[in-house]
Parts: sequence; C-alpha cells; structure tokens
Amino acid sequence: MMFQGGSMRRFCYLYLVVLSWFLFVPNTYELQECQSQALLRLRVYLEYPPSLQIWENYNGDLCSLSPSVNMSIKCEDDEVTELKIMGEKSEKPLMFTGFAVPNQTLSMNFSIDSFFTTLTRLTSLRVLSLVSLGIWGPLPEKIHRFSLLQVLDLSCNFLFGTIPPKMSTMVKLRELTLDDNYFNTTMPDWFDSLSNLNILSVKSNGLKGSFPSSLCKIETLEVVSLSHNKLSGGLPDLSSLTGLHVLDLRENHLESELPLLPRSVVTVLLGNNSFSGEIPKQFGELDQLQHLDLSSNHLSETPPSTLFSLPKISYLNLASNVLSGALPEKLNCGSKLGFVDIYSNKLSGGLPSCLANTSDSRVVRYAGNCLSVDSQNQHKGSYCKISSSGWKSFKTWEVAVVTAIIVGFVLVLLVSGMCLWKRCHSRQTTGQEVLLKIVQENSSTGVSSEILANARFISQTVKLGTRTTPTCRQFSIDELKEASRNFHLSTYIGEGSIGKLYKGKLENGSYVAIRSLALSKKCSVQSLKAKLDLLSKLQHPNLVSLLGHCIDGGGQDDSNSHKLHLVYEYVPNGSYRAHLSGSNPLISLHSKHAEFSVEKALKWSDRLAILIGVAKAVHFLHTGVIPGCFSNQLRTNNILLDEHRIPKLSDYGMSIITEDMEKFEAKGQKPKPSLMTKADDDVYNFGFILFESLVGPIACDKGETFFLNEKASFGSQDGRRKIVDPIVLTTCSQESLSIAISLTTKCISPESSFRPSFEDVLWNLQYAAQVQATADADQKSD
Ligand SMILES: *[C@@H]1O[C@H](CO)[C@@H](O)[C@H](O)[C@H]1NC(C)=O
Ligand SMILES: *[C@@H]1O[C@H](CO)[C@@H](O)[C@H](O)[C@H]1NC(C)=O
Ligand SMILES: *[C@@H]1O[C@H](CO)[C@@H](O)[C@H](O)[C@H]1NC(C)=O
Ligand SMILES: *[C@@H]1O[C@H](CO)[C@@H](O)[C@H](O)[C@H]1NC(C)=O
Ligand SMILES: *[C@@H]1O[C@H](CO)[C@@H](O)[C@H](O)[C@H]1NC(C)=O
Ligand SMILES: *[C@@H]1O[C@H](CO)[C@@H](O)[C@H](O)[C@H]1NC(C)=O
Repeated sequence: MMFQGGSMRRFCYLYLVVLSWFLFVPNTYELQECQSQALLRLRVYLEYPPSLQIWENYNGDLCSLSPSVNMSIKCEDDEVTELKIMGEKSEKPLMFTGFAVPNQTLSMNFSIDSFFTTLTRLTSLRVLSLVSLGIWGPLPEKIHRFSLLQVLDLSCNFLFGTIPPKMSTMVKLRELTLDDNYFNTTMPDWFDSLSNLNILSVKSNGLKGSFPSSLCKIETLEVVSLSHNKLSGGLPDLSSLTGLHVLDLRENHLESELPLLPRSVVTVLLGNNSFSGEIPKQFGELDQLQHLDLSSNHLSETPPSTLFSLPKISYLNLASNVLSGALPEKLNCGSKLGFVDIYSNKLSGGLPSCLANTSDSRVVRYAGNCLSVDSQNQHKGSYCKISSSGWKSFKTWEVAVVTAIIVGFVLVLLVSGMCLWKRCHSRQTTGQEVLLKIVQENSSTGVSSEILANARFISQTVKLGTRTTPTCRQFSIDELKEASRNFHLSTYIGEGSIGKLYKGKLENGSYVAIRSLALSKKCSVQSLKAKLDLLSKLQHPNLVSLLGHCIDGGGQDDSNSHKLHLVYEYVPNGSYRAHLSGSNPLISLHSKHAEFSVEKALKWSDRLAILIGVAKAVHFLHTGVIPGCFSNQLRTNNILLDEHRIPKLSDYGMSIITEDMEKFEAKGQKPKPSLMTKADDDVYNFGFILFESLVGPIACDKGETFFLNEKASFGSQDGRRKIVDPIVLTTCSQESLSIAISLTTKCISPESSFRPSFEDVLWNLQYAAQVQATADADQKSD
C-alpha cells in the first residue's frame, strides 16, 4: 500500500512530534507495559520465590531495581534485555519421576509450557538465567524464539526429556548452561550451527549416546563440560578447537584411546571413564596445561615423562589405571607441579627423585604400585608383570593365586593399620594429642575431590602419604642475639597478639621475624617441642612460615627465665591494615615520593584477592590438620603482604601453644568448639576483616559497636555511599559489593549457627571476585 501525499505529510509530522518527544524528554527507560506485565506474571508462575519479593508493591520501573545476586533485570530502550533469577530450590530429591516433588520443585499446578509462553513475550532478551527455581517439565521447543539470546543458563532445575533440536537456530548463543537437570535422551549433535558458542556446560544430567562431534567445528569454543552423564563411545580428534581451555568429561562411560588435544587447553578432566591405550606423547607438549585428571580409566604403558615437566602443570592425577614400566630416575618436575597422584597402577622401578624428595614440598601419592620405595604399601614385583590383557585370559588357578595375594595384602594392611592405630592411641595418652593428619592412601582423602580438582586450593605443601617434613629447626640463643643485635630496640617491630616481635638478620643474610614470649616454668618443654613441630608443619603459601624456634633457659634446668623465641620468615611489605588506611608506613619510609598515591591504593579486586588468600589459609588451618587449628587471631594487622601483595597470615596457631600454657595453669579442660566465644571464632573475626576491607580500618575494640551502628547503612545506596571506602566504591561493581556485604553480615551474626562455614566464605569471595572480573572486563571492552 502507498501513502497519499497528504497522509504522508501528516505521518511525517506525527513522526517528528514523537521523535522530538523522545529527544527532549529525559530518557527514562520506561518499560513497555506488556513487558512489565509479563515479568509480574512470571513471578506468579514461579510461585513467588523469595528473590522476587522486592517486586511486590513496587510501583516504579522494574528496570531501575538495583541488581543483586538473586535477581537482576537490565533494560535497553523500553525492553528487558537481561533477566536473572536465582531461587533457593537447589536440593535434589532422591527420586524424580517427572512430577512435582513437594517443597523441592514448583507445585503440581506449574505448567512449564505456559511459563515459557509468557517468557517469550520478552522478545529482546539477550541474557536469561533461571537457576534453582524448581522449574519442572520438558524444556519447550518454543525456547528457540529467543533469537537474540546470547547467554542461557537453566541450571539446577528439573528439566527432563530432550534438549530441543530447534535450539540449533539460536545462532547468537555464546553460553549454554544446563547443568544439574534431568535431561535423559541422547546427547544432541546439532551444535555446529551455533558458531558463536564459547561455553557449553551440560554437567550432571542423564544424557546418553556419544560425544557430539559437531562441537569440533565450533572454533570459538572455550569450555566444554559434559561430566556426570552417560556418554559412551569414543572421542574425536579435538585439536581443531584452537581456543579450548576447559574439557570436563568426568564420570561418563567413554571408551577409546585418548584423543589429540589443542595446544590451548588449561584444564582437562577425563577421570572415571573407560579410556584405554597409552597417554599420547602429544599430552606432554601441551604447554598451557595446568590440571590433568586421567584417574580411574584403563590407561596402560608408561606415561610420557614430559608430562611432569610441563611449564604450567600443577595438578596431575593418573591414579587407578594400569600404567606400567618405570619412570626415568632423572625425571624433571615442572616448577608449578604441586600434586601428583600415581596411586594404584603397575609402575615399577624407583621413584624419581623429584617425586620422592620433600624439599620442594609437593604432594605425591604413589602407593599401590610395585615401586622400590616404601615397600609396605607396594605390591610384589610379579603383580605388575601380569599381562594387562584382562581377566578373561586368566586360568582359574591364576585367579586363585591373585585372590590369595590380595587377601594377604588386605590382611597385612589390616594388621599394620591396627598397629598404627595403637601407636596413635598410646601417643594420645602421653599428651601429644596434636597429630599431623596422615591421609592413608587407601582411605578416602581428607581433602574433598572437588578441592583436589581445583588445584588452586592445593597448598604446595599439604602432605599426603606418610612422608614428613624435617622437624622444626632449633636456633641457639646466641644465633638469635646476633641476628637481632641482642634484641636491640632498633630491631623491635612491635607487639604481636602474644609476645614481642623483632626483626633479625641471620648469618646467611636472610631476614627473619622473631617473636619472643615468656614461658611459664611449669610448661613441659617436651610437649611444647611437639607442638612447635606441628606449627612448623603448617606450610601454606598464605601463612607466614615458622622457620624454627629457640627455648632459652629451658631444657633440664629450672631457672626462672624461660623464654620461647619463634623464628618466622620476614614479610617485607607491612600489614593489610596499613595498606587499607592508605598511609602505608613503609611507602612513606622508603620511597622518595612519600605521599600516598592512588596507584598504590588497594582496589576492590586487590582486596578480594587478598581476602581469598587469607580465607584459603584459614580453611587450611581448619581442615589440613587434626584436630583443626582454630582461633587464629584473625585481624587486619595480622595479615602481612609480601612484595607481590600476596597475603600471609601471621599469629595463627598460637592457641596450640597458649592452650598448653593455660592448661598447666588452670588445670581446666580444653574449650569445646561449641563453647567458643565470639572473639575466638575465626568466621566471626574474618567478618571484621571483610568489614574493614569495605569501610577502611576501624580502631581496635570498636569494631563490634561500629558495625552494629552502621549495619543499616549497607541496606541503601545512599548509606553505602556514606560508609564504604571511596576507593572501593569507585572500583567495585554493585553486584560484587553486594555479595561481600551480605557475606560480611552473615559472618558477624551474633548467633554462631547463622555464620557460614569457611568453605562458604571462600566460595562467596571467589564468586564476588569472578563477578568483579567480569565487570572489569566489560568496562574495558566498552
Ligand atoms: C537472596 O535471597 C535470599 C532469600 O530471599 C536473601 O536472604 C538474600 O539476602 C538475597 N541476597 C541478596 C544479595 O539479595
Ligand atoms: C526421562 O525422564 C522422564 C522423567 O523422569 C521419564 O518420564 C522418561 O520416560 C525418561 N525418558 C527416557 C528416554 O528415559
Ligand atoms: C514442606 O514445607 C512445609 C512448610 O515449610 C512443611 O510444613 C512441610 O512439612 C514440608 N513438606 C515436606 C514433604 O518436606
Ligand atoms: C493449585 O491450583 C488450585 C486451583 O487453582 C489452587 O486451589 C491450589 O491452591 C493451587 N496449589 C498450589 C500449591 O498453588
Ligand atoms: C570417580 O568415582 C569415584 C566413586 O564414585 C569418586 O569417589 C571419585 O571422586 C570420582 N573421580 C572423579 C575424577 O570424578
Ligand atoms: C633427595 O635429594 C638428595 C639430593 O638433593 C639426594 O641425595 C637423595 O638421594 C634424594 N632422596 C631420594 C629419596 O630420592
């Protein structure tokens, strides 16, 4: 149809009026009526999840709600472009048969079809994330109508059936995440049309069939996570995926030889499958590789020795395969290699010295082989010579012999286990109840597998197996007097939580910090030494290490002047507290430009990195030893920063020593964790470290009152602007800040049962850091 001249003019006129209205009325992003109706309708469908509580009685524009972890809406012009809702229905029932489960899914009334029909009215969505909302049913085909969608995350719901094939038309998709659902048909293989896909994550479903080889055509892929499914068959050559960083296919039924991998891979997790054949030589050339898990497969032959020396490799798990042959004695280990597991294979010969020696402090599990070391945990040589052609080829008598050997081995283990138990038991009665946690090769490890899979968690020096570090070095008092010029005033650094601190210089030129404390003379030197040994074994990159000690006037004589000197590594860059106050004393002492500069101020992301380091150290103190080491005097001035701003916690573990002293004095019982006061609780105290990271340092002892007074301010934007350190405000994303604030409040709960575990603390911090990193990257690309 054509416009007549007049109506055309009228149309243009109208158009100009409308245009000028848009141009001259301030841009308010008023949401289209139908879109806000749809949003409100979705809330009803989702049965009023707590995270949408703030929509209730909200009269303003939903687009202007400030985003939180649970809920975020972004709009452009007058349409919703981003919708993220996170619910609380994250628990999984034991059985799910495709129907509503009370309290765990949405109710019987929920209709996934109607829900998606309403949802598709938000036609401009680019980001859609609906997580842990209890949504149940088969994912409707109409999801493909979101043709602009770039990010889709439907994790942790109750979706089953098939992943709709029409999704192959959603060509803008960059991230597709469907983890923790019940998809139970065959794995689709239509991915090649999604040519912009970076992330495909469909973990923990029940998908069958083979690995989708159409993925090999998507050059943009960075993450492929299909772990915990029922995939079978083989893997194609993946070397065409030149941007792939993460390949996670754990816990499937994949069987074939291992494929070739692209040079870009950083994390490769293929454990608990049925891969066979040898580990390709090519794996030893993956110079970006950091984590490799090939455990619990049927891999044979000798692993390529270059695998151990890869420049970035830090986690290498080859346990429970049938690897055989001998590793070269002169094996080189990469400098980052912190964890090696070759448990339960058929390796023979000696253990290469870079795996045997504890000096460079890496965790090595090597029991259950035929190695010539540590013979009580190794098999006889003949065990490793048995042909690997499988059980079928055995004659019955061979099976009998093998069974006899296994039974014998189990008996030996049992007997030695009992001896060990007795030894521990008798040790306990002699008062040394503090023992290093010894993780048995054949018992479940104390470190959870999730933590092991995440090698950033692994302390360089957590000891698995039975090897121990040399005991704490003893310094002579003369040595320390010389180092500290006889504890001269000029070497005095300050008062720690207990004792006085001095800076010293050892004969070899290295600097140390010396903590001197008076000892009650009733204190048993013997038991003290055992505890000092324990302290020196607490090695973690985020702990100031104890190098040694000196008991002055101790030993056998009974003089009154018992003094204990603890010698620590010296951390040069001042305390976190000083950095937070922006008046770093070291900067003003040593630098010519004495005044405080903004470059040196700790940005929010720097603070998060420091907090994460400290949280890792505390998590290690709680779980890396038995019994855990609690009450660690967590304060901002006990966190020291090294030259790279790596945080190191000092004054940890002092309860081990002071407890000993007090016990002798008060003859009381050890305080039970349940009776622990607030001031002793690490989570509670960490809350204040978080708080000071947000608002800057607070005068000692004022923290609690100050927090209670200011807590309410966190609730509003204005309040935050008032209370939060301006450096934080200008360098943080609102979402990351909100996560930290919510975590702070939880840690400082008066009621201990409301406080999170340290694992939760760590998780939330890492989440906040991730959110911040994403925001920073977005800002850079703008
Ligand atoms: C997320 O939702 C829960 C439950 O309503 C709420 O307690 C929590 O404060 C919310 N978190 C944020 C950051 O909004
Ligand atoms: C998938 O799961 C649903 C719900 O549990 C069930 O009804 C359906 O039969 C399953 N389909 C297949 C192919 O296993
Ligand atoms: C579901 O939740 C309600 C209220 O929270 C509770 O009374 C009921 O016992 C729960 N039902 C089940 C099966 O857990
Ligand atoms: C389901 O719908 C019926 C009828 O509309 C209603 O009476 C009932 O309360 C609803 N149940 C739930 C759990 O919402
Ligand atoms: C393999 O399966 C075992 C037993 O279910 C489990 O303990 C282990 O963590 C799994 N390993 C991996 C790498 O998934
Ligand atoms: C450990 O290394 C030292 C040399 O640094 C060597 O003499 C010793 O034999 C090694 N120990 C083992 C068990 O390989």
